[in-house]
This record gives sequence, C-alpha cells and structure tokens, in this order.
Amino acid sequence: MPNDIDTVVYDVSDRIAWLRFNRPDKRNAMSPTLNRAMMAALDELEFRDDVGVLVLGGEGAAWTAGMDLKEYFRETEAEGLRGIRKSQRESYGWWRRLRWYQKPTIAMVNGWCFGGGYGPLFACDLAFAADEAKFGLSEINWGILPGGGATKVAVELLPFRKAMYHAMLGEPIDGKTAAEWGLVNESLPLASLKERVTEVAKVLIGKNPVALKATKDAIRRVCVMTYDEAEDYLVRAQEAANSFDNHGRREGIRQFIDEKSYKPGLGAYDKDRNAG
Ligand code: ACO
Repeated sequence: MPNDIDTVVYDVSDRIAWLRFNRPDKRNAMSPTLNRAMMAALDELEFRDDVGVLVLGGEGAAWTAGMDLKEYFRETEAEGLRGIRKSQRESYGWWRRLRWYQKPTIAMVNGWCFGGGYGPLFACDLAFAADEAKFGLSEINWGILPGGGATKVAVELLPFRKAMYHAMLGEPIDGKTAAEWGLVNESLPLASLKERVTEVAKVLIGKNPVALKATKDAIRRVCVMTYDEAEDYLVRAQEAANSFDNHGRREGIRQFIDEKSYKPGLGAYDKDRNAG
C-alpha cells in the first residue's frame, strides 16, 4: 500500500519492502523534504514483522541525481549555518540509519546516480544496477569537492587510481563499468533488474535474520580494525547474537549433523523448523 509521503513511496509484498525515491520530474534529487520523508519511511519499515529485506529504488529515469542543488544547497544556504547544518543532519541521518539498518538492504539502481547519491548507495548492503544506469561524482563539474561522504565512499569502494580519476574528471560511468569497478555487485539490463533483485532478496529472506544483521554490521565494523581487534569484536558479536537467537544456531547444526537435511556449504537450514 503506497504511503502518503509523496517524495518517497513504498510497497511491501512477499516480505520485500520496495522503497523508492519519488521525484521523477526532478530526477529524484534529494531535497530536505525528501530526506525527512526517507527517514520517516525507514522508521516505519525497520521493525515490521512483514519486512525481511528493504530495496531502495527510484521512480522514473533516475535512482537519484544527488542533492537538490536548489532546495538542498541554495535555499538552505540562504538560511545561514543553522539551515545548512539542519539539512546536512537530515540527509546524513537517514544514510547512517540505512548503513546500520536492522534488515538487509539492496540498492536497485535503475538510472542516474550522482554525487550525494553515493551516500545511500554505500549505505545499502548490496547494490545491483541497470546497464543503462549512469554513476558520477559530478561535484567537480559544478565546483565543489565530493562531500557528504561521497569521497569516502569512492575510496572505500574503488582502488586509489580509479577513485582519483572518478572524482577529478567527473565523467559518468555506466552500470557495467560500475560493476567492474566494484561500486555495485552486478549490472544487468534494466528489463531484468527487478527480477534479479527479487531473487537475491528471497535468498536473504531465507537466512537467519539475527545472523544476517550481525554479519552485515561485522563487515562494516572490521574494515577499520586491526586483525586482533577484529578477532575480538567478532567473538563478542557472535556471543551477543547467541543471546538473541541461540536456538537458531543449534537448529542449523542439528539439521546438518543429525537430520542431514541440508549442507551448509550449499545453502541455508530451514529456519522455520525448530526441534527445540
Ligand atoms: N538538483 C536540483 N534539480 C535537479 C537535479 C539536482 N541535482 N537534477 C535534476 N534536476 C531537475 C532539473 O533542474 C530539471 O528541473 P526543471 O524541469 O524544473 O527544469 C529536472 O530535474 C529535469 O532535469 P534535466 O536536467 O532536464 O533532466 P535530464 O534527463 O536531461 O538530465 C541529469 C538528467 C543528467 C541527471 C541532469 O539533470 C543533471 O546533470 N543533474 C544534476 C546531477 C548532479 O550533478 N547532481 C549533484 C551531484 S553533487 C551532490 O549531490 C553533492
């Protein structure tokens, strides 16, 4: 059922929340209004029992053309530092929320993805693009550095030379190149994009949700740790996960060792069965 916040829309079906940027006439540029609506939608969806995976897509020809140059920059700058900081908090706020979201998240990049769009792109755990999509750090083309985390995203996801080239030249790349460079997991024709994302979402829905949340957080956390720190963090994270869901772990072992009903190397245990 679409909600009533019109810069953002979502539907939930078969445990997938399809959340979309919805300013197609403005190429889904992120205005302060849209940023507030995104936070509200993320709030609404995060702990719903009927949501297993969240997919972030875009209505129309764009995923998002980045920050709204008029409403996010020009108009908030006119309000002085108070306005600037407020709009920064709103945008960075929902991207941060998305980076640490309770449910697994997938960016489904159907079209244009520029500048500030790299914030939510990186915030999603996985990303699939249309071959036809175009990605760019276009900031240099209108005279600023890639801020709002975009430079950090480039350096996190791309090798040094590619990050430097991407940020300094401001040339857009297509979905296939984005996949080759590691900005997204895969690129495929737009006509097949939703089907592939649905397939991946269904696999995620079949996994233990406590283990998924612990895993996605661990991947982000250990990036900046030494080996020893990571080893320690992972021990603690697993112990914390056990306190939420120890029976799931035991059941996973039981179905393999005792029941021989699946092979963990090849797929997930049936989390809907529990022998206790
Ligand atoms: N901010 C504000 N308005 C925008 C933005 C944006 N980022 N992107 C598109 N729009 C608006 C246009 O002003 C236009 O509005 P209008 O119909 O009222 O004139 C409408 O969306 C359609 O845009 P067009 O440029 O006509 O669409 P087209 O399909 O030809 O081009 C493209 C799409 C390439 C995405 C182009 O709009 C563009 O270059 N947008 C800016 C991309 C960008 O550099 N974003 C900022 C990144 S930096 C950052 O986010 C910090």
